[in-house]
Amino acid sequence: MLMLKLPLLLLTLLTTTLFASATSPPVTTKRDAPTVLAAVTKLSTQLTTLNKTVSAYPGGIEGSLRALQIQAETIQLEVDLKAAIVAAKRSANFTDAESLSVAQAFIALEPAIASTLANIVAKKPEFDDGLLGIASLSFLVEWDLQQLSFFSTQLGKAVQEKLSATYAALAPLVLDQIASAFAAAVKAYQS
Ligand SMILES: *[C@@H]1O[C@H](CO)[C@@H](O)[C@H](O)[C@H]1NC(C)=O
Ligand SMILES: *[C@@H]1O[C@H](CO)[C@@H](O)[C@H](O)[C@H]1NC(C)=O
Repeated sequence: MLMLKLPLLLLTLLTTTLFASATSPPVTTKRDAPTVLAAVTKLSTQLTTLNKTVSAYPGGIEGSLRALQIQAETIQLEVDLKAAIVAAKRSANFTDAESLSVAQAFIALEPAIASTLANIVAKKPEFDDGLLGIASLSFLVEWDLQQLSFFSTQLGKAVQEKLSATYAALAPLVLDQIASAFAAAVKAYQS
């Protein structure tokens, strides 16, 4: 008897739990600002990682392995950006306090983006003779920069939509700086 009743009991418990969570309102409104903040922290860490690898890139044949590493780390950065966009889009509107934290995270991110891009631009001569020392890697870097620029803009838009009014109004100050840093870096690689 017990053997038969146990699954039934589990099923009843499970159904009750599911039913309860589906019908009773949560104690607090669910907000995802912490998820967005965690995603931005991950972005910032990955930027630092990429930046270090770029700094150590010597170009030429001897730099071939590191060029592959730069490409892998750039792809990871794109993955992290996409994850942050999804987190921002799924999030409820931020409260004032959450908007402040997210705005601060972006204000901290901006100089990290700018210095990483400046570093990538400074390495253009190395990327120019990067592919096994015989061909240019700069076309690939330019493509990567355009991708990163696109996803950064998407992230900015997604986040701005969730900020409370005051912070949403201030957001373009930071987002425009990030956009122009990308535009300058892309331009440097096109020349
Ligand atoms: C990137 O590297 C450059 C050169 O080493 C450094 O000046 C800059 O602070 C670094 N930026 C980040 C975000 O690590
Ligand atoms: C979230 O904020 C936007 C304005 O930024 C507003 O249009 C929208 O109605 C808000 N959504 C909720 C669920 O409050």
